[in-house]
Amino acid sequence: MEIIIQPDERAGYQFAAKKVTALVHDRPDAVLGLVTGRTAVPLYKELARIRREEGLSFASVRTFNLDEYVGLPPDHPGSYHAFMKAQLFEIIDLKPANTHIPNGMAKDIARECGEYERQIRECGGIDLQILGLGAEGHIGFNEPSSSLGSRTRIKTLTEGTRRDNAHAFGKLEDVPRHVITMGVGTIMDARSCMILAFGEAKASAVAKTVEGPVTAMVPASALQFHPDVKVILDPSSAAQLGRKEYYLKAFEDKPDWQK
Ligand code: GLP
Repeated sequence: MEIIIQPDERAGYQFAAKKVTALVHDRPDAVLGLVTGRTAVPLYKELARIRREEGLSFASVRTFNLDEYVGLPPDHPGSYHAFMKAQLFEIIDLKPANTHIPNGMAKDIARECGEYERQIRECGGIDLQILGLGAEGHIGFNEPSSSLGSRTRIKTLTEGTRRDNAHAFGKLEDVPRHVITMGVGTIMDARSCMILAFGEAKASAVAKTVEGPVTAMVPASALQFHPDVKVILDPSSAAQLGRKEYYLKAFEDKPDWQK
């Protein structure tokens, strides 16, 4: 894992956005794995700014979102379909036909999950998967105890995750209990991954993900086995890392060719 501790959140988002746009620049039909949640908002704003001010086109980019709530229609304001539309899809020039989000209204959920996996494969796999981090180290909606080899499937949310996501619903009772999420194994298949985590509320999950043992109780820790993962942090989210000084130095001393 490459641990990148930026001076503040804003610098972290700019760094992440640069990585995404560099990929799209090099490969206009790149396949991006997209994330939702509060962490995603400033990243998408920065991508929109780059699209607007630098004219980078996303017209050939293909996208796959990590997850969606079961039982919410796409126009429900708490759904990830609505989130993506408002935060990114209606702002940059992505083609709707190139964007994919699991269908939480599918009658046959198992079939929908298998179909989602098939579509990812058909696109040639994900080039860059963008990830946030849940308070207990979940990625997508892979809650603690998720199999580290899991594929896209239905999951039951923990009460903690329902509480953490209640802001998008108004009240806790309205937060769905079930979701469709890419599995940890699906995420591990991406050619590269980028975890974004900012603020002290993420510090414990970051430390467990990066320096803890690999365990299904911290699903993001599986990424220790992935050959190309960047973990983009600010000083608060990096606060509980034991090797913080080393990560800072390693990043600072990177030879030019590696930057
Ligand atoms: C949800 C999403 C995750 C996201 C997490 C963190 O659980 N399914 O993909 O990483 O929220 O959200 P936030 O960025 O709001 O802290």
